[in-house]
Amino acid sequence: MKYRKLKGVQDILPPDISVWQFIEEKAGNIFRSYGYREIRLPIMESTDVFTRSIGETSDIVEKEMYTFQDKGNRSITLRPEGTAPFVRAYVENHLYNEPAPQKYYYMGPMFRYERPQANRYRQFYQIGAEAMGIDDPKLDAEIISMLSSILEAIGLKELNFEITSIGCKECRPDYIKALKDFLEDKLIDLCSDCGRRFKTNPLRVLDCKVPGCVKARKGSPPMVDYLCKDCGDHFEQLNNNLKKLNVQHTINPSLVRGLDYYTKTAFEVSSENLGSQSAVAAGGRYDGMVKEFGGPATPGIGFAIGMERIIPLINDSLKTTDGPELLICPLGEEAAEESLIIAEQLRAKGHWVEVNYDNTSIRSQLRKANRIGAKNVIVLGDDELENRKVALKNMTDKTEQIVALASDELLKILKTD
Ligand code: HAM
Repeated sequence: MKYRKLKGVQDILPPDISVWQFIEEKAGNIFRSYGYREIRLPIMESTDVFTRSIGETSDIVEKEMYTFQDKGNRSITLRPEGTAPFVRAYVENHLYNEPAPQKYYYMGPMFRYERPQANRYRQFYQIGAEAMGIDDPKLDAEIISMLSSILEAIGLKELNFEITSIGCKECRPDYIKALKDFLEDKLIDLCSDCGRRFKTNPLRVLDCKVPGCVKARKGSPPMVDYLCKDCGDHFEQLNNNLKKLNVQHTINPSLVRGLDYYTKTAFEVSSENLGSQSAVAAGGRYDGMVKEFGGPATPGIGFAIGMERIIPLINDSLKTTDGPELLICPLGEEAAEESLIIAEQLRAKGHWVEVNYDNTSIRSQLRKANRIGAKNVIVLGDDELENRKVALKNMTDKTEQIVALASDELLKILKTD
């Protein structure tokens, strides 16, 4: 084998693709019912779109970005996530001038140079949503409820919704001080990255997966105990609204996110049926990001679902191997030309019609009809052409009926199938 796909990427082929399309369709319908409109953004951006917003000391920026110099010597990065590019586009296109809330969704590939393992890829797909311009916790509750509706509509069960608040720039400094005080005498147990993070961005220590760091931070103070009045009220109202909307959730004060841009609400949805990479979706508020990107102060909140995380949880019965409604099997050149015309006429009416191009025996053509899952077959030979009549064979119940060799006659039968 001369060429192989890169490590950590996937070819998504039929019939698996039918599951992807099912999810995308369900999600799209629910997004639209909540007023979210689709956006399609570039897959690559200037590297600085990500560095400051996600955080210079985050794992993503420190180790996981696909960054390269282009031929004009610009530093370009394949997007590791969708929120920073979205905010770039929101500011660049002055979307803040439209009435709030502005609500958008996207679906597409993201790239992170992570160690590949089950359900963790280097190119992975997210379905994301972002809502801009409203800081009312009712919007937080609504967006989490929408996420819950999407996951429910695609049939996922036994999910854990965990919520926390990570405060704002008013209350976080107090918390960081408390955290540093706690970690001070445990510095020796932290990994070298966390030793550095302790000075530059101590919150990142909470996100480190190295067992020594996990142990060292056990018993560290939770952010929710340090929230200012505004953040505390916001969090309380969010919880109340989630209860009113019947979204089952738990408060997890030690929930940390791998991205630095979050303020106030942060949440994660996980499944016990996924092993170590258990997060199926995650998100939160990012009220300071638009300003940081040069726009007017505008609050925002969003989430992203990881496609590769939800696919393994979905019933395999959704994988459909569809076949054409009609396969035309011509015998001879004249019949092949006539087949081409009839097929075009039926396709113009929206039917999936195939013409068999290998001019082989009837037997082998019928064998092929079975292999491709054709629902109906007609064999077109000299007699059929002369009499302008053809036997339409239903491959499911094996019945046959004689019909006129004309697209409108065939159409009537395909329609009643
Ligand atoms: P995130 O937590 O980095 O958040 O990613 C969201 C989801 O993407 C994860 O919960 C997981 O399901 C999936 N995911 C992440 N990395 C991988 C990977 N290597 N392989 C497979 N799936 C993966 C964000 O990306 C934020 N932009 C979400 C957001 C939107 N926050 C506000 N708006």
